[in-house]
Formats: sequence, C-alpha cells, structure tokens
Amino acid sequence: MDEAGTDGRHAVAVSSDGNATDPPESFRESAAVVDPDVYEAFERDWPDAWGRAADLLDWAREPDTVLDDSNPPFYEWFPDGRLNASVNCVDRHLDERRNQLAIRWFGKRGERRSYTYADLHREVNAAAAGLRELGVEEDDVVTLYLPMIPELPVTMLACARIGAPHNVVFAGLSAEALATRIDAADSEYLVTCDGYYRREDAFNQKSRADNAALRIDGELAATVVVDRLGDALEIALGEDEHDYEALLAPHDGETVEPVARDATDLLFVMYTSGTTGRPKGVEHATGGYLSHVAWTTKNVLDVRPDDTYWCAADIGWITGHSYGVYGPLALGTTSLIYEGSPDYPDRERVWDLIERNAVSVFYTSPTAIRSFMKWGAEYPDAHDLSSIRLLGTVGESITPKAWHWYREHVGGGTAPVVDTWWQTETGAIAVATLPGVTPMKPGKVGPPLPGIEAQVVDRDGDPVDPGETGYLTIDRPWPGMLRGLREGAERYRREYWVETDEGWRYRTGDGATVDEDGYVTILGRVDDVINVRAHRFNTAELESAIVAVDGVTEAAVVGDDSGGVVAYVTTQGNVNPDSTLRESVESHVADAVGEVARPDRVVFTPDLPKTRSGKIMRRLLEDIARGEEFGDVSALRNPEVVGEIESTVRGEE
Ligand code: WT7
Repeated sequence: MDEAGTDGRHAVAVSSDGNATDPPESFRESAAVVDPDVYEAFERDWPDAWGRAADLLDWAREPDTVLDDSNPPFYEWFPDGRLNASVNCVDRHLDERRNQLAIRWFGKRGERRSYTYADLHREVNAAAAGLRELGVEEDDVVTLYLPMIPELPVTMLACARIGAPHNVVFAGLSAEALATRIDAADSEYLVTCDGYYRREDAFNQKSRADNAALRIDGELAATVVVDRLGDALEIALGEDEHDYEALLAPHDGETVEPVARDATDLLFVMYTSGTTGRPKGVEHATGGYLSHVAWTTKNVLDVRPDDTYWCAADIGWITGHSYGVYGPLALGTTSLIYEGSPDYPDRERVWDLIERNAVSVFYTSPTAIRSFMKWGAEYPDAHDLSSIRLLGTVGESITPKAWHWYREHVGGGTAPVVDTWWQTETGAIAVATLPGVTPMKPGKVGPPLPGIEAQVVDRDGDPVDPGETGYLTIDRPWPGMLRGLREGAERYRREYWVETDEGWRYRTGDGATVDEDGYVTILGRVDDVINVRAHRFNTAELESAIVAVDGVTEAAVVGDDSGGVVAYVTTQGNVNPDSTLRESVESHVADAVGEVARPDRVVFTPDLPKTRSGKIMRRLLEDIARGEEFGDVSALRNPEVVGEIESTVRGEE
C-alpha cells in the first residue's frame, strides 16, 4: 500500500478555525501524550508503531510480528503473540496494587460493593473454576445476560481466563433477542440473574431468560443464576440451573491457571445491528483488541492508575466492554460501576456520585448530556465537581451547545471534552483529538488517531474536498478491528470491505465531512441503521415488530433529534388508529426488541412516502421528525402524502 498518508493530512496544525479550543496548560503538563510528533511517528513507522500499544500489555509470548496482512481483508494483529486478558486486567496488578480498588459498585437501592484487585482476583478465579466445573472448555461461547452488577465484569474476566469467549447480551433486550443471540453464537452456557430493580419494581429477568430458553434451537447445557434481588424475588432453580454463589463457594481461594491464548483467538462476540434484520456477531480477537483499547484508554481518555474513572455506558454494549471493563482494568485504575438510572432516586444522583468518589475522568453519551441539560444546570452546579480532569463523549454527534454546556457545568469550564468516534466493529476509539496535543473543535469529532487511516470519500472512492459530504472509510487495518463476523468470512468481506487500487478499504456506514484541518464531522448512518439513545438498531428489526401488530400494514422508523425513535405507521382500512393501537405498537417493539427501542412517538399516516421503485423514503421522514427542511419531493410515487404527514407531525407538537 502506498504512503498516502504522508502528505500532511495527519500533522494536525489547526490554523483555520476560530472555534478551536486548546487544552488548558495545567492539563497538558501531565497528559499522557504531549508530543505532536506522535502523528508523524505512526506514519513513518506504520504498522510497527502499533507495537507500542502491545507494549502496554503483559504477554505470555511477546509478538515478533505486528501485522500479518498477507490475506486482506483478513488481517492478523500480533499473530505470534500469546496472552491472557484476565492476567492483563487483574493478576499483573497484584504486586503493585493488590489493595487498590478496581471496582466501586453502586446499586439502585443505594447498596455499595467494592473490589480491590486482590478481591477481583479471588472472585474471577472462583468464577473461572465454577464455569469449568459446569463443563465450559476453551472456545465454548458463554452468554451473559446480566444487568450492571459486579458479576458481569467478573464473569467476563472468568471466561477470558479459561479461553471461553463471552457473548454479552444487554440485559434490557427481549427474550426473543436473547434467543437469537444464543443460537447465532452456538452458545450452550448462560449466566443470568433472578431479576433487577426497574425504578420501584423488581423485574423478573429469569423468567425472560426462561422464555428465551424455550425458543432456542439447541439446548442449554447449564444456566447460572446470580441472586441480585435476595428476598425481593424468589425463584426456583430447575435442572441444569445453578446458583452463582453456591457454584463459586467451594472454589473460593482456588487459583485457575490462565489459558494463554493466541493474540488472534476470539476474546468475545458482540451482536450488533447491521444492514439486514438479523444482528451480526462481531468477533474481537484477544491481542489486537486489548492493545488498542489499552492504548486509547491511556492516551485518549488520559486514564491513569490513580484515577477514579467512570464510563457511564452499560457493559452490555461495546462502550462498556472496551471502556467500562477491559481498558480501565488493563491500566490498573479504579472504576465506578453504577447500576441505576441517572435520575433515580433524583437528579442529583450522577453529580453526587462524581463528587463523593472524586471522579477524575467521566465518559458518557450526548443523549445523557441532553437529559442533564434539560434537567438544568442547578443540579451539577450544586456539587463540587472539581475532581474532573477530562470529559469524554461517544455514540452520536454532540452539538456545540451541548459540548459547551458539558464543559462549563461538569468540566469546570476548563476540562478537555474529547469527542470519540468509533463502532462495535472498530473495537476501540478511531477518531478523536489527543487531549494533550490536538485542539478541540466543538461539534467536530477530530482528526483520525495516529496510525488510523480514516478518510471521507465520494461515491467513486475519491477523497472529498473539505466541507463536502461523503462516506467515512478506513484505509488500513487497525489493531482493535473486528477479526470477522460469526456469520462467516464471506459476509464479513461483503459487509465491510471494498478493494481499491491502493488496497482494501473498510466502510464504516457513516456519512461525514472533513474540514481543512482534517477534522471529521459525522452526519449519521448512510445504511438502514438508526441510533436510538446511543444504541444501534436496524430499521427492519423495529419495523417487523410493528407490522406484527394486528391491523398494521406498513411501518417506517427514524431517529429524532433527541436520540429517540419515531414510528410512522399505516393501518388497514377498517382499523381505527386509536390510542390502544398506539400502545400496542409501542409495547410490541419493547417486547420484541427491548425497552430501549420503545418508540417515543407513533405517527399514523394513510401512506408512507416512496420512490418510484417502492423504497420508503426514510431520510425524508427523518427530516420531518426533526422539523428540518427537505428537498423537492415531486419525484416520489406519492408526493401528496408528504404534506399530510407533515401536518400530522406538527399538529402533535
Ligand atoms: C455508530 C456506532 C462505539 C460507540 C458506541 C456506539 C455513531 C459513534 C460517534 C461520535 C457521531 C458517533 C456512528 C457509528 N457514533 N460515535 N462521536 N459522533 N456519531 O457503537 O452501536 O457500534 O454504533 O455510532 O454512527 O457508526 P455502535
């Protein structure tokens, strides 16, 4: 591949933007990266420069080769290295930080639990021994269906210890979604819990897991059940079902020899929505993933061992995997894990946790920041948040207004706010400013990280001029990249890669622009994926749940401007689109896909706008939902419906 990157695109020298904001001098003094040469250094020495990410880890066998790209797009990072992820996240910290807290957990009812690195080591080993006792062997996939309780990271690390890839399914997803993911991953082991609190109520997670077990094609060899609720929910265990505590108890104090895995061996699979109705199983390899995650946690989020760090994302999604579990633990820092919602029992909750724990690095999503803004600055302003050194954001674009609010009211007006772009597939952050080096531009993500060849190209694959719209692509492999899809090599190649004259190019599925300084702005998905409250869904996944409702003919879902989802629905002639039907549409989506995807608005319409070839114009529906201007609609098959939909939407406001 030629050195297309040496033309200065990577040297970040910002001259042309009045809004560019430098990190404060006090931050720079101690930042992990301060030398601007890092961009050029990666360029000069690519791919070997990524060896410095691998150097952040302890290897059972040090890799000699950084990248094997002999069979693109099937890249292998650190292919001759061997390591164990749980050793890197736990054992290796015991000498220096045995008694330092690894996890501070806060439950929904004000409960607290803390784990030092020594505690975590003990618990992970007992869990690893317990899983082994059930028959889990190397390469067996273990499905974890747990809320934000310490047993989730513990079992993830226990799986990693014995070389059993985990398959975490977000606890809020439905029985159907769980069953699909168990089947697709060929998983015979499930770890779940009795239930968890949803606001005041005890929700029965086990019965949902039971429903899933009834729907799967195969059979579960064993199910482990964590007792989260104690007396609040009594459940009976059936055959092949084991109480977590009872399973671990006989193994307390045991040490399980960690399995040295090839760097290219599977660490976990994570299902995410793609361009079809069926979710894709994204596979992450042990060595490349962990290296990239550790490197970015250190150099982008600037996390250090002595920090108290809080990634507010749920561990059931990729952000929680990379930056709630593996990244912070690989660096030996102290992390907060919070089970509850940010406004329960009140709107002081988040700020109280930050103040009480002296959180220094906080990472959340624009959706959360928008809620904080809506609730009002008086809540954060009433707390001492001076411990904050850096703020991060991820999942969707952040408006300059939200960016400034976040910095002002949470970051004391001075903390760097680092917007980070990445995906389930990239495994780790790929586009972001380096907070000690690169000026921030509110509303723009930033330049690609050193060693990442992201660019914005047009339909023909040529780089666009600054300010023009195109597709965000990545031209060379990177360590955290998915190693493949569970659905096979062909699907992986087809889904993500195109071959160009210069080599293979990864397609992110995002539309974007780039400015004169190489800063990327994300415009949103160009495929049939929508981001709902920072979670990703395929439109067909939601729409098929809606059309399953009696009386519904067609449906189209789009995102609105507050991260929610709007469903446009047509009904059969004799059906009255009343509030009962509306509720039925909403609850069908919540049941079939998950509560997070519940439509915020259902708009009944006589017809959906379509092209002459019959494709639903989602883009147009999205513009209407967001109250934005839209172009000429006369080329549609049914332009007359647009005005009608618009007035229905407006009328509801
Ligand atoms: C999609 C990936 C990995 C983070 C959690 C979501 C959107 C992500 C940003 C950002 C604008 C962003 C993109 C991307 N996205 N970060 N900083 N600015 N958009 O992971 O579920 O795999 O979704 O989230 O559209 O493709 P995911």
